[in-house]
Amino acid sequence: MQRFKNKFALITGGTNGMGFATAQQFIQEHGKVIITGRSAETVNKAIDRLGQNAFGIVSNAGNMTDVFTLQKQVKQYTENIDFLFVNAGYGKFASVVDADEAHFDELYNMLVKGTFFTVQQILPLMKAGSAIILNTSFVTEVGMANFSVYSSAKSAVQSFIKTFAAELAEKGIRVNGISPGHIKTNIYNNTGLNTEQIDGAIQSILPAIPFKRLGEPAEIANAVLFLASQEASYIHGTELTVDAGISVIR
Ligand SMILES: NC(=O)c1ccc[n+]([C@@H]2O[C@H](COP(=O)([O-])OP(=O)(O)OC[C@H]3O[C@@H](n4cnc5c(N)ncnc54)[C@H](OP(=O)(O)O)[C@@H]3O)[C@@H](O)[C@H]2O)c1
Repeated sequence: MQRFKNKFALITGGTNGMGFATAQQFIQEHGKVIITGRSAETVNKAIDRLGQNAFGIVSNAGNMTDVFTLQKQVKQYTENIDFLFVNAGYGKFASVVDADEAHFDELYNMLVKGTFFTVQQILPLMKAGSAIILNTSFVTEVGMANFSVYSSAKSAVQSFIKTFAAELAEKGIRVNGISPGHIKTNIYNNTGLNTEQIDGAIQSILPAIPFKRLGEPAEIANAVLFLASQEASYIHGTELTVDAGISVIR
C-alpha cells in the first residue's frame, strides 16, 4: 500500500515502541517522518534504522522551552504536517500516600502540558485533510492502584480528543485517539524498576489479558495508521481501543 505517498508525519516519541513502529510503517507506505526523542543518541539511532525518509529532532515533551521551539525545528524539514501522532511518554507509579509533587509534575508536564502545547504549536502547519492522533491508554477506563497520576493525566489527554475535535472540525482536521492495552515496548524502563521487577510485573499482568500476551507495537501502528488514513475519513473525536479487550472483559 502507498497510503502516505507525499505525506509528512510528525511522531513525538518515535525512537522506540509504538512511535517507532508507526514511523516504520508510515515510511513503508511511502511517507516521510520526523520523530522526536529526549536524546541525540536515541534519535540518531532511530533515524539510522528508519532510513533516508526519516528526520530527527531532540525535544523533551515535558520541557516547555523544547515544545515551544518544536514548530521552528519542524520547519527546517517541512512547512506542512499531514499527520501528527502525539505519543511521547511513559508511566511512573506511586500510591496516593507516597506520590510526591515531583512525580505529579513530571507526568503532568510531559503528558498533559506536553500534549496540549505540542498540538497548539504544530497546528499552524496542518491543513484540511490532515489528522491528529493522541496516545491515551486503557488505564483511563479502570481503577488501578498506584496509577492515579498517570491515569488521570491520560484522562486529560482523552478529554483533549473531544475538545480538539470540536474546535478543528471546521478546519477539516480530524482528531482521534489510540488507547493501547499492555504493549511490549520500553515503557517499563522509565518506571525505576529493575529488570527482575519488570519481568515480575509483566508475569503478573499476563493472566488478566484476554489474549494472555502483550500486544506488539506493530499492532498499535496498524490501528494508528488506519486512523491517519483516508479510510478513516468519517472518524472524528473518538478513541480506537487496541487492548485485547482488557478494558471491557472481566
Ligand atoms: N506500552 C504500554 O503498555 C502502553 C499502554 C498504553 C499507553 N502507552 C503510551 O504509549 C506511548 C508510547 O510509549 P511506548 O509504550 O511505545 O514506550 P517506549 O518504547 O518507551 O517509547 C516511548 C517513546 O517516547 C519517547 N519519550 C519518552 N518520554 C519523552 C519525553 N518526555 N519527550 C519526548 N519523548 C519522550 C521515548 O524516546 P526517548 O527515550 O528517546 O526519549 C520513546 O521514543 C506513551 O505515551 C505511553 O504512555 C503505553
